Amino acid sequence: MSFSSYFTHKPGGDRIFSVEAPKIKFGRGSLQEVGDDAKGLGMSRVAVYTDPRVVQLEPVAKVIESLSSSGLDFEVYDQVAVEPTDISFKQGSKFASEGKFDGFVSVGGGSVMDTCKASNLYSSYPADFLDYVNAPIGRAVPVPGELKPHIACPTTFGTASECTGIAIFDLLEMEAKTGIVNSKIRANLGVLDPSVLSSLPPLVRAANGFDVFSHACESITARPYTHRPAPESSEKRPLSQGANPYSDVACLESINLIGSHIVQAVNDPVDENYDALMFAGMLAGIGFGNAGCHLPHGMSYAVAGLAKDYSPKGWPEDHPMVPHGISVIVNSPAVFRKTGPACSERHWKAASAMGADLTDTKVENGGDILADQIIGMMRDTGIPNGLSGVGYSVEDLDALTDRSYPQKRLIDNGPMPISREELKELFRAAMSYW
Ligand SMILES: NC(=O)c1ccc[n+]([C@@H]2O[C@H](COP(=O)([O-])OP(=O)(O)OC[C@H]3O[C@@H](n4cnc5c(N)ncnc54)[C@H](O)[C@@H]3O)[C@@H](O)[C@H]2O)c1
Ligand SMILES: [Fe+2]
Repeated sequence: MSFSSYFTHKPGGDRIFSVEAPKIKFGRGSLQEVGDDAKGLGMSRVAVYTDPRVVQLEPVAKVIESLSSSGLDFEVYDQVAVEPTDISFKQGSKFASEGKFDGFVSVGGGSVMDTCKASNLYSSYPADFLDYVNAPIGRAVPVPGELKPHIACPTTFGTASECTGIAIFDLLEMEAKTGIVNSKIRANLGVLDPSVLSSLPPLVRAANGFDVFSHACESITARPYTHRPAPESSEKRPLSQGANPYSDVACLESINLIGSHIVQAVNDPVDENYDALMFAGMLAGIGFGNAGCHLPHGMSYAVAGLAKDYSPKGWPEDHPMVPHGISVIVNSPAVFRKTGPACSERHWKAASAMGADLTDTKVENGGDILADQIIGMMRDTGIPNGLSGVGYSVEDLDALTDRSYPQKRLIDNGPMPISREELKELFRAAMSYW
């Protein structure tokens, strides 16, 4: 797929893409080395971020033991909110500011790693909360300098937050998710130990798997980097650069791994599934960290932000929520049917990597073939049937559209322009699939 005609230069478009590769350690037993890694990064007093459930699990015990045996001073913050909000980001930042830490270790899913990134940012360079948040919702003020060192230890495999300069939260007053996107908030090291995944509830595994798939598939089908307007200067080149030859390689292999492992990993897992899925999540993270996602993620921020009465099995039940991976994948079939004609071969290859039988199929039907393949796998893994399965009806179409249309960074990164009316029709098409 690399250097395909997809990347033919368009007048006014960029001619350059940059590759930001995170530093990663991968393998069973890697958590036992976190103490040495923290010392190597110059930490002496460490803030350990986690959530109320993960704090009781083995990964946190392993990290604490490793920090102790390396002689490091640390304090644990176990109050991270699952699917964090501006309020919970501020609470995490307060802990960081008061504790006088010189380094951070996060142990948990995307909620924990993102909260830790934000806490490091706001405690290192205090500012009005919206200053660092994406424009147009926030002011996207540049981060003034380097942050304190951060080691991110994921206990899920979907978000790849350990690879990205992204921290996502729910802005409560807007009833929509948004984020802070800046390469300076990326962790200095990601430590991926696949054994941590064995305690994940089945639906969380499914949601993570589809989050990975969607990161990879959105990156492959994103607008090519050569069609994004060239920036005025190097530092203005965005992190979400569009599809590029580097992200293509990582993302196609990631879809292959998800396609071969996700159904078994949800229904009847074996150890080998966890290694494959964690690696797939990391590959897609490197890919979408450079290419950027588009419509399924842009729409998901409204689906998650407006959650009314859906309480899925496997997540905390204290408030209704549409967890991230589910809020994304319920949109994906509708989106890929629509975007298929813009780059059908890319959709067709993604369907093949996901396991679709392409015998007697036509490349120009790539979008529909991919959508059908996703729908089949959603059914096999217990994912709800579209937006109606997570509590929405056609009466919510305007509210959903209003809250996702401002996600310019994502909507503009799709392979075709999408009007507000088209976005509303995508939500309508995503209401139910079977
Ligand atoms: N920063 C990024 O690049 C990025 C990308 C995508 C999504 N996100 C964000 O990440 C968040 C979602 O993160 P997530 O999907 O990783 O899940 P999560 O952190 O929200 O955790 C989901 C649930 O699983 C539990 N859990 C975590 N690890 C476990 C384990 N090993 N065993 C048992 N239970 C475990 C948690 O306690 C929680 O109840 C959302 O807020 C989403 O918007 C961030
Ligand atoms: Fe995601």
